[in-house]
Amino acid sequence: MTAAGSARTAEAAAGSARPGAAAGGSARTGGTAAKSARPGADVRTSLVVAADFADVIGRGGDLPWHLPGDLRRFKALTAGGVVVAGRRTHESIVARLGRPLPGRLTVVVSRRADLPRQDGMLVQPDVPAALHAARAVAAFAGRDELFVIGGAEIYAQALPEVTRIHLTRVHARVGGDTALPAGWLAGFTRVAAERVDGDALPFTVETYERA
Ligand SMILES: NC(=O)c1ccc[n+]([C@@H]2O[C@H](COP(=O)([O-])OP(=O)(O)OC[C@H]3O[C@@H](n4cnc5c(N)ncnc54)[C@H](OP(=O)(O)O)[C@@H]3O)[C@@H](O)[C@H]2O)c1
Repeated sequence: MTAAGSARTAEAAAGSARPGAAAGGSARTGGTAAKSARPGADVRTSLVVAADFADVIGRGGDLPWHLPGDLRRFKALTAGGVVVAGRRTHESIVARLGRPLPGRLTVVVSRRADLPRQDGMLVQPDVPAALHAARAVAAFAGRDELFVIGGAEIYAQALPEVTRIHLTRVHARVGGDTALPAGWLAGFTRVAAERVDGDALPFTVETYERA
């Protein structure tokens, strides 16, 4: 069962639905994880981000670079799973693709009750509620990891819950208007790194885990 397909049932099972929250995707039934007292307790919370040497991640509401190799890596990492995104990041994805990320459930964090709904998304009114719902859906879909995909406001608030970071370190100082918070990697240890060449900018794919 995919995360996107199990969203509606799992949202109800999580007990996280609030007035104004809405689910996209088709309804399914079944599964055992959602029946546990703490749905999603075993689901790891990971952060996925691409940042330059100055920890810049965005410019003008979009990514400051176009790196197809990193986009492929992001797709492979998150395929079939649950991602948590701030409203601005969600809107930048919809502007690019015309819809939320295909093949994944996006839990969007927004205070806006009137945010347009599409299949493949839930809306939650704050970060704890979004993580709670994402964990429940991920567990229901049999996933052991969920992905916080930005932007900067959501990264900063979710960081205390994060135990793994998938970082694409872009080898440049591109300049921008959105950056990760100072000291964001404190408490994490790098456990893997692989340099990738061939895109417009070289980058290193790094994995960090909470020490
Ligand atoms: N390089 C990367 O890996 C990467 C990844 C993701 C994004 N980005 C970039 O980052 C930029 C966007 O980041 P951002 O920090 O400006 O925006 P964001 O984190 O994507 O979204 C901010 C929005 O999230 C909602 N929000 C935040 N905290 C909330 C809370 N406590 N309760 C309820 N809602 C809350 C609010 O939505 P409402 O206003 O609707 O209430 C807020 O306006 C873009 O340039 C994007 O391209 C880069």
